[in-house]
Amino acid sequence: MTIHHVPAAGTTLTVHTAGLGRPLVLLHGFPLDHRMWEAQAALADHVRLIAPDLRGFGGSTAAVATSMEQLADDVAALLAALHVTTPAVICGLSMGGYVAQHLAVRHPDRVAALVLVDTKLEADTPDARAARADLAAKVGRLGQGILADAMIPRLLAGSAAARGLPHRAAVEETLRLTILEQPVASIQAALGALGSRPDMTEAMRHVRVPTLLIVGAEDAITPPECLERAEEIMPCTRLLIVPHAGHMTPLEAPAVFNAAVLEFLRHPPGTLGGAAPPA
Ligand code: MLT
Repeated sequence: MTIHHVPAAGTTLTVHTAGLGRPLVLLHGFPLDHRMWEAQAALADHVRLIAPDLRGFGGSTAAVATSMEQLADDVAALLAALHVTTPAVICGLSMGGYVAQHLAVRHPDRVAALVLVDTKLEADTPDARAARADLAAKVGRLGQGILADAMIPRLLAGSAAARGLPHRAAVEETLRLTILEQPVASIQAALGALGSRPDMTEAMRHVRVPTLLIVGAEDAITPPECLERAEEIMPCTRLLIVPHAGHMTPLEAPAVFNAAVLEFLRHPPGTLGGAAPPA
């Protein structure tokens, strides 16, 4: 991995890259950073991996996130700063998936294809928004540990088969350490940005790039129905539901995930509107 420090509006972002060739951008979920993609390092044998720490997270904590639109603009800025001239394949998990959707709408010239993972198109319900505000207040009082305790059981698949997977303890450890390292102010700001994100359903009807949808069969945060709805709405999609995985499919089922991404890059679903396959 090579580490870059690149400018984006009013801040500097840390970006990790590896490999050569077609750019594949990996956008992490909340409240994590680029380390959630460690099991995807092998993809660098095939593509140029670009894994930023989004504003507020990991090595990019000089400023906090205020909206998904801002995070999408940051991704466009970092691609320019890294001299990426061809449209990229944009892969985002959950919050990273929301950012990927905004990038496709706001900066279509930057996007050759999408991989939307354990995410959804819809906005928060009022109850979900209120729960985020409560959680932000709790994290302010009690620290990141309360967030790790609340989130990890919901991030990972709960079935006996999933809990028995050999790498389960290591995945839990990675998630806990990563969550504990994120600044409280960044967590609180991102909870606000997540809660106020717009519904993308209408906008995504018009995004015609080849899109791979991946979801864990046991995802409790964005269950398979969310991605099934996206499959109906978006013109050019393929859906994969991964057994024994929850909301962290790339970590929980890395071999299945990586194989699905490579297969998608080789054989993207046909386009209805004549959009180009991944460059
Ligand atoms: C994530 O994994 O990024 C979050 O669960 C997103 C969300 O809470 O909507």
